[in-house]
Amino acid sequence: MSDTSYTTTNTGTPVAADSQSLTVGADGAIPLIDSYLTEKLAHFNRERVPERVVHAKGGGAFGVFETTEDVSQYTRAALFQQGTATEMLARFSTVAGEQGSPDTWRDPRGFALKFYTSEGNYDLVGNNTPVFFLRDGIKFPDFIHSQKRLPGSNLRNNDMQWDFWSQSPESAHQVTWLMGDRGLPASWRHMDGFGSHTYQWINAAGERFWVKYHFKTNQGIAVLSADQAAEIAGQDADYHQHDLYTNIAEGNHPSWTMSVQVMPYEDAKTYRFNPFDVTKVWPHADFPLIKVGTMTLNKNAENYFAQIEQATFSPANFVPGIAASPDRMLQARIFSYADAQRYRVGVNHAQLPVNAAKTQVNSYSKDGAARIDFPPADRPGYAPNSFGGPHADPARAAESTGWQNDGELLRTSATLHPEDDDFGQAGTLYRDVMDDAAKARLLAQIIGHVGAVKNAEIRARAIAYWSNVDIELGSKLGAALAATSVAV
Ligand code: HEM
Repeated sequence: MSDTSYTTTNTGTPVAADSQSLTVGADGAIPLIDSYLTEKLAHFNRERVPERVVHAKGGGAFGVFETTEDVSQYTRAALFQQGTATEMLARFSTVAGEQGSPDTWRDPRGFALKFYTSEGNYDLVGNNTPVFFLRDGIKFPDFIHSQKRLPGSNLRNNDMQWDFWSQSPESAHQVTWLMGDRGLPASWRHMDGFGSHTYQWINAAGERFWVKYHFKTNQGIAVLSADQAAEIAGQDADYHQHDLYTNIAEGNHPSWTMSVQVMPYEDAKTYRFNPFDVTKVWPHADFPLIKVGTMTLNKNAENYFAQIEQATFSPANFVPGIAASPDRMLQARIFSYADAQRYRVGVNHAQLPVNAAKTQVNSYSKDGAARIDFPPADRPGYAPNSFGGPHADPARAAESTGWQNDGELLRTSATLHPEDDDFGQAGTLYRDVMDDAAKARLLAQIIGHVGAVKNAEIRARAIAYWSNVDIELGSKLGAALAATSVAV
């Protein structure tokens, strides 16, 4: 049994004092030989890792995913075979705010999941919205810069946001979600989650399908009004963290029902819009939800830093039976996350307990800062080798790149399908999904947001943007803003 009654240095030596430095004389200089003092101060100075460049403020919990239905006709992934229970981790977040920023600022919410499957870790890094602002990852740094802070004043700025959005019409669908009620979830427990992108599922026979993931909250959707959210932001910046932590601690375990929409592989070529465009949803009338199972969060982290801050979720982490699609955004993300994490947490971040696979890792990567594990001494560090080291087994592998391609290199945003337009689905969301009260709240929110834009040209572009979403919405906005004078 270990004795935890006495303080030690980081290397286990008992220390002489917790609260008194070693000094020369009663009040004199501190000698450099007080190495416990210098260790304590130096380690303190290094307690932080860089915050995530986006989604910096968040919280999460551990849980289990149980596959209750038979979807083996679509995927051979072990975690999605009926009757399988898989340990998992979820992290929820806001996008633009820094660590410490209020949980109730209007923003999409991250919905990042890590499944510790029997075939290695599977990460599904989504949001609480089924779509995104962009369809090409090359624009992501510009978009985020427009959402963050002005270089000089360090203030967020509506002119900057509307300058970018009004020149990026593909953002209209996500901005309509954001300015509507779902932009202010009452808690992380009361929001849905989405994989957002189109992914590929592959069954045991090698047949391929295109899928979109949906996690419906079993707590029901609940949202805050703009006034409530603003008030809470001032009272308790950690409101959503509080809610999740307290509910799990009290045994009130939140759960979500996971379903997928499945598109036959061949249909993608002829569907009426590009099914790999993450600014679009697939109508449920065309592709109904097929239930898969239930995710339940039942265990708080024991240590926030070790298990949540250092958790690394990456869209590159697939398992056999699940793969990427031709979505350009997704492909940019497949590079970006692991790169961010090598910088933010370190090259060996996958070895930390929260990130480590619960299956055997037989990688040939070696060394690097803070390396923990290593292969047996007699195993060669290269492949192929003649001494019995691991070798690639294509039959086990995740098939990550299999889709048909016309072979041409393209750098274009040209639309190729009849319904590839930017504003259609945002207009449908406004006209067909929102009731009159929700429409009124959306209009009020946009009036406030665009009303804070000072540049006349940008303001005019923002009004045109909303007229493209819905002509009546645009004219109501224009009329409401007409009274307000702006600098040119
Ligand atoms: C090409 C576009 C995108 C790029 C380049 C990008 C990049 C990043 C980066 C670098 C991080 C920080 C990772 C870390 O430090 O651990 C991050 C976090 C995150 N991103 Fe993205 N992102 C993109 C689009 C998206 C989309 C479309 C979604 C959702 C559908 C999304 C959801 C998230 C979430 C949930 C997190 C936080 C993960 C966590 O909790 O640790 N991102 N993103």
